[in-house]
Amino acid sequence: MVDYSVKGQVALLEVNNPPVNALSTAVRTGLRDGIAKASKDPKVKAIIICGKGQTFPAGADIREFGQPPRAPWLIEVGDSIEASLKPVVAAIHGTCLGGGLEVSLFCHYRIAVKSARVGFPEVNLGLLPGAAGTQRLPRLVGLPVALDMITSGRHVTALDAKKYGILDELVAGDLINAAIKYAMSVVGKPLMERRLRYKQVPGADKAREVCEAAMAQVKRKYKGYEAPVECVRAVRASVDLPYADGIRMESELFKQLNASGQARAQQYAFFAERTVSRWSMPNGSYRTAKALPVKTTAVLGAGTMGTGIAVCLLSAGLPVILLEQNEKLLQNGLRTIKALMEGSVKLGKVPMEVAQKATTLLKPTLNYEDLKDVDLVIEAVFENLKLKREVFGKLDKICKPSALLCSNTSTLDIDLAATSRPDKVAGMHFFAPAYHMRLLENIYGTKTSFMVEEGANPYEIDQIMEDLGMPMGPFKVRDLSGIDIGWRITQEVAKSLGTTITKETKYLGGERYCGIGDDLYEKGRHGRKTGLGFYKYEKKGGKISTPDPDALDIIEAYRQRRGIVKCKISSQEVIERQMYSSINEGFKILEEGICTRPEDIDISWLYGFTFPKYLGGPMFYASRIGLQKVYERICYYHENFPLKQRDCKDLRRRGSSTSGVYTMYPALGVVINSYCD
Ligand code: CAA
Ligand code: NAI
Repeated sequence: MVDYSVKGQVALLEVNNPPVNALSTAVRTGLRDGIAKASKDPKVKAIIICGKGQTFPAGADIREFGQPPRAPWLIEVGDSIEASLKPVVAAIHGTCLGGGLEVSLFCHYRIAVKSARVGFPEVNLGLLPGAAGTQRLPRLVGLPVALDMITSGRHVTALDAKKYGILDELVAGDLINAAIKYAMSVVGKPLMERRLRYKQVPGADKAREVCEAAMAQVKRKYKGYEAPVECVRAVRASVDLPYADGIRMESELFKQLNASGQARAQQYAFFAERTVSRWSMPNGSYRTAKALPVKTTAVLGAGTMGTGIAVCLLSAGLPVILLEQNEKLLQNGLRTIKALMEGSVKLGKVPMEVAQKATTLLKPTLNYEDLKDVDLVIEAVFENLKLKREVFGKLDKICKPSALLCSNTSTLDIDLAATSRPDKVAGMHFFAPAYHMRLLENIYGTKTSFMVEEGANPYEIDQIMEDLGMPMGPFKVRDLSGIDIGWRITQEVAKSLGTTITKETKYLGGERYCGIGDDLYEKGRHGRKTGLGFYKYEKKGGKISTPDPDALDIIEAYRQRRGIVKCKISSQEVIERQMYSSINEGFKILEEGICTRPEDIDISWLYGFTFPKYLGGPMFYASRIGLQKVYERICYYHENFPLKQRDCKDLRRRGSSTSGVYTMYPALGVVINSYCD
């Protein structure tokens, strides 16, 4: 796990634990023994720690979390590195993260190749750097940089790391040769001043203001997440306490976070993200599939989704032809795309060069003929089957045979696209905002509006769901997506069922139908785009939402028309009805074989709805509550409310079983629920 060799007068400790050289027990032991061996060897004048293969160690071995901890502790290994009487140089390439960066901070010197990146991503796993990182980084770089890196988890380029003072030198060419040369050049220099534990944190006099500002910022930016808050506390200890006490406090906070449900959920999400990328279908898998080359693209419709999809494609450096039905709408779309690109640059999500290049990559048109050479078309016109069939008919005639014709439809059957090339037709369902959400495809939405029908206030529901950790409540999301879109979708659903929706429609396709959205639609309240929806906004297309008494009046008038007596719905019930219907749907999806693993569903929610990672995803959340309890509550709502919850055999089977152990992620040791297969 750690290869030991001596090159001239330099001992080389090469961590060899593919794929990312994680600091497993064996690696920690190897490093400790390697340092001891090199210290005793009179030939050796300096020591280098580096990684074999792809990278310097990218952190602690996450698979060991949740298992009984085993010595030697990383911090003890670090202490022995720092105490070495021979200079120790970290030679960094790839990603030097978490415990890897901590190891390097125990070394007396750090050099790296330009392509390397360093960072403390522990916060993304619900943790803080637990091997002195929170005490040593501030001593090296000061509080502002340390707080930013530790609370954001961001990866820092080697160039920036050099600027901050994390790296002593950037090297070109062969890293090991450069490291040997560098190590020999520091032999004999005093080591005391290189040992971070003895340093004072620079700018300590401003600690109070800086830490209080950081605390306020993380509470706002990472609302609901425990780890960023504890990261700030731990970093602050680097100023307030002597080194040894700071280490004790870091260790306490680490243990506290590690025992929390949030860390479990975030670590589950880390592995779930990687599990779902290993997809497998009857006709192929991630191993066998080969991506088709896409060099040119077209987007049809420059509304909410079309503009967002265009920004996505442009941000990936792809040329986009944007087609609309008339010049005015086309120009509107171009303005929106420009504003979205500028916003992305401001937020640091898209580099300025990419945004500038985008202006040359975007070609507006009203003419389908311009699409004849594109490799990929994404259609985002109104949700109307007749219109979409017409559009696909035209595309089929004009586009080259190899072109992929995709629809961003929310609900329509892709098989109805009616082209001569069904093998080249696919659904490509983006989530709004398309340039931000990582999910392409959908799982079933919510049935929350029923609760408003019965008496709940949409603003209270949004607040409850936001308090649970959702970045936006379901009604803000509906305003963002467009109430008109919901309206068009239900019109199409009704049409496909051979019926029409009227003011009196109470059931559609056997499910309870709520017409509040229709009433808002008829009053021109289409959501953010019109400045009015469930909320009112500061302007058309605005983002600042305020509750609107007019919307409540429309809802109340609707209830009266339907003879619905308003009743009070508790927060717990809001959460249960919102979450459990989605969980039930999740099990339904598993039962129907649409997805094969709970991770697929959870990742859809994490990416598509920005579900809080610290809850893991709805399926993980369900397993924490207990499937038996979830099932009982679903049965209760099914029996006591007119809401039609689809009964799911699979959840019933899992929910009612009492024996067996269902381990969703064995390596984490997360024993989640009783499960009998
Ligand atoms: N421990 C165990 N396994 C890890 C790991 C880790 N720290 N990091 C990555 N892996 C595994 C992945 O699960 C994956 O395994 P499979 O192929 O079996 O799925 C494999 O390594 C490759 O990972 P990626 O697919 O993510 O590869 P990538 O090249 O896209 O990314 C990476 C590499 C940037 C290192 C990314 O894996 C990553 O961000 N890893 C997590 C790093 C991290 O969080 N480190 C801190 C850990 S906590 C800590 O160190 C602090 C402490 O004090 C306890
Ligand atoms: P939108 O109403 O904002 O935009 C549709 C655009 O298509 C309009 O600008 C319209 O002028 C244009 N258009 C209509 N006919 C056209 C034609 N023949 N040729 C070119 N352009 C034409 O609608 P939105 O929200 O962008 O939805 C588009 C599609 O995306 C729909 O199928 C919808 O179901 C789907 N969708 C919507 C989501 C949302 O959150 N709004 C999410 C995911 C999918």
